[in-house]
Amino acid sequence: MKYTTGVIICLMLLPSFARGQDWVVPDDRKGRLSTFPFTDDTRKEGEKLYQVNCHSCHGDPGRNNFIALQPPPGDPATEKIQRNSDGEIFHKVSAGRGQMPSFRSVLTTDEIWKVVSFIRSFNRSYVQKVMQVITSSAYPGAIISMKLAYDEATKQVLVIASATSETGTVPVTGAGVRLLAARYFGKMAVDEEKTTDVNGVATFSVPEGLRGDTAGNIGFSAMFTDEATFGSVSKDTVLMAGMPVIPVSLTANRAMWNTVRKAPVWIILAYGLGVLAVWGFIVLVMFKLRDIFTVGTALSENISASHGQTEPTKN
Ligand code: HEC
Repeated sequence: MKYTTGVIICLMLLPSFARGQDWVVPDDRKGRLSTFPFTDDTRKEGEKLYQVNCHSCHGDPGRNNFIALQPPPGDPATEKIQRNSDGEIFHKVSAGRGQMPSFRSVLTTDEIWKVVSFIRSFNRSYVQKVMQVITSSAYPGAIISMKLAYDEATKQVLVIASATSETGTVPVTGAGVRLLAARYFGKMAVDEEKTTDVNGVATFSVPEGLRGDTAGNIGFSAMFTDEATFGSVSKDTVLMAGMPVIPVSLTANRAMWNTVRKAPVWIILAYGLGVLAVWGFIVLVMFKLRDIFTVGTALSENISASHGQTEPTKN
């Protein structure tokens, strides 16, 4: 018993050991740069992504209204975050630590860079360095790119990776590729990790009945698992690979907390009666309290009246 309590206390204390400890980013990640220049557009898109994914903890940049966590998340407009290199911010956002979530499977590489673009807009002295050539140890000096295509007949998404250099374009072979599909919240991995074949193609099976928008469109993003070898490339593409889904409005149907099916009338009635009963009881208690109060005041008046009679008057 004592032992388990000890273990539990230790486990509860564990996160606090990270307190104040420097968040060290591996050297090979520190110098990582965005593959595109930060513009007004990337800043605006980054702001939208920030509002959805980061605002709840980090607050409005420049207003120091981040939430109280230990260690504190910090305000992105301040030195605490701005002193990081682009690569360090990128690494911290994608890896996460303690209460700072990992965004590796939530945001694509490009999306994380857009958030960095937004964060950097609060730093006047910041000058961006853009990665000129995607560093890939397997295809040095080449520009690596990916294309996504959907094969209707086999219900497969093909990711085609190629490396273009002065000597021409060759397929990127033997590269591990992950494919994610955009969902309401975050992104979902489609199929297992695949490896590109001799033609630079990785093939992913789309699960049966994967829900898309009204036309069956789904946003996919593909990326290499080993970015050091094949380059930090990711590709976002919308493909008509899903099942068309007509969204059901919450207000169009009778719904309580179900967005798809109508709540049966008897549940609505039972719920309504339940709410009424509870409120009725509260009102009843209030009336009883008022009764007690009136009886109480009447009594105390009586007592003081009788006191006035028995107490001998001075003088
Ligand atoms: C659930 C709360 C939460 C969310 C959501 C969150 N963060 Fe954090 N973040 C934290 C906490 C807590 C820390 C401090 C972690 C530590 O130092 O161990 C942190 C640290 C960081 C750091 C490192 C700060 C430093 O001292 O170097 C960066 C950069 C960062 N967050 C960016 C982001 C971005 C960008 C997003 C959105 C994509 C985000 N965070 C979403 C809680 C959050």
